[in-house]
Amino acid sequence: MRHLIDINDVSVEWWNELYSVCRDIIAHPEDYKESCRGNVMASLFFEPSTRTSFSFQTAMMRLGGSVFGFSDPNASSRAKGESLADTIRMVASYADTIVMRNPREGAAKAASMFSEVPLINAGDGGHMHPTQTLTDLTTIMEKRGKIENLNVGLCGDLKNGRTVHSLATALSKFPKISFYLISPRDLAMPDYMLSFLKSRGQNYIEVTSLESTIPQLDVLYMTRIQKERFIDPLEYEKVKGVYILTRNKLERARKDMLVMHPLPRVDEIAVDVDEDPRAVYFEQARYGMFIRMALLLKFCHEKRIPPPPVEIGSSSLCNNPNCITNHESFLPPLTHMTDMGEVCSYCDKRIIKR
Ligand code: CP
Repeated sequence: MRHLIDINDVSVEWWNELYSVCRDIIAHPEDYKESCRGNVMASLFFEPSTRTSFSFQTAMMRLGGSVFGFSDPNASSRAKGESLADTIRMVASYADTIVMRNPREGAAKAASMFSEVPLINAGDGGHMHPTQTLTDLTTIMEKRGKIENLNVGLCGDLKNGRTVHSLATALSKFPKISFYLISPRDLAMPDYMLSFLKSRGQNYIEVTSLESTIPQLDVLYMTRIQKERFIDPLEYEKVKGVYILTRNKLERARKDMLVMHPLPRVDEIAVDVDEDPRAVYFEQARYGMFIRMALLLKFCHEKRIPPPPVEIGSSSLCNNPNCITNHESFLPPLTHMTDMGEVCSYCDKRIIKR
């Protein structure tokens, strides 16, 4: 794999190999202090972040490499109107690996088309967050020892939450996983994700009640309502605070259920839940640093390969207003066929012919 853009590109074999390196890093961190010496990572965060940004930066530092970049795109020439393509071409000429978060869906795929060094998707709008999923899989492995035969509840904003899209995609490759998709109807899992799960013959059920579902679960993955993705603030007001996990609700859960959350949380997990041994979200965030060390180690010695030329010109076909193709003029429209019909190859949304 040249870049990490979409978690669906990750096979179970690739994951097993990565996790085994991660285990060794956790056990013997001193053995890896020089593993990426001389390597430079670019950290391009066009959107706010605490965990992903800092865990990638500290991961590279702990491997002996160095880091440059920005956490505010207004501090780059993006503010003068430079395109994403030109920004990436420039950064790739200075760095050996690029980690990028961008608010536009499909931005990571678009950026990778202009990068001669490996590019890692650190979150693209409400679409995907593959390295959060590597963090989540690591947490399940560390806590349960295997990823199989699990009832997994994904709860909250399943429409806009990129972490749940990536996690459901990855878990569908492991045996005997059943999903309970817990959300208000307005924040249900998008069609392209349901279509993907159906195409894999995946067991899932869509429900609205956390209380009645919690006794069934081995893993409860809570998520924040993604305020920043709402176009109409009144729509956010209608759903904010819809799910709040409390100690009281946890009494109905299995004694060994894991409570996970990609963080940040707002109010969806009461702070008194933090003391419950089932609450593993802070450890989860720490595992994120170790699995990102393993990931950077995989990518940091890759050779530079000039990307194939990109055909510039035609206007976007995608109906998703937040798709990168509707914000950058340099991108060729790319589509492919799925069970849903023709979809945009950047953001995975269905193309509706105008
Ligand atoms: N989980 C996660 O992506 O957190 P940040 O937004 O803080 O990076």
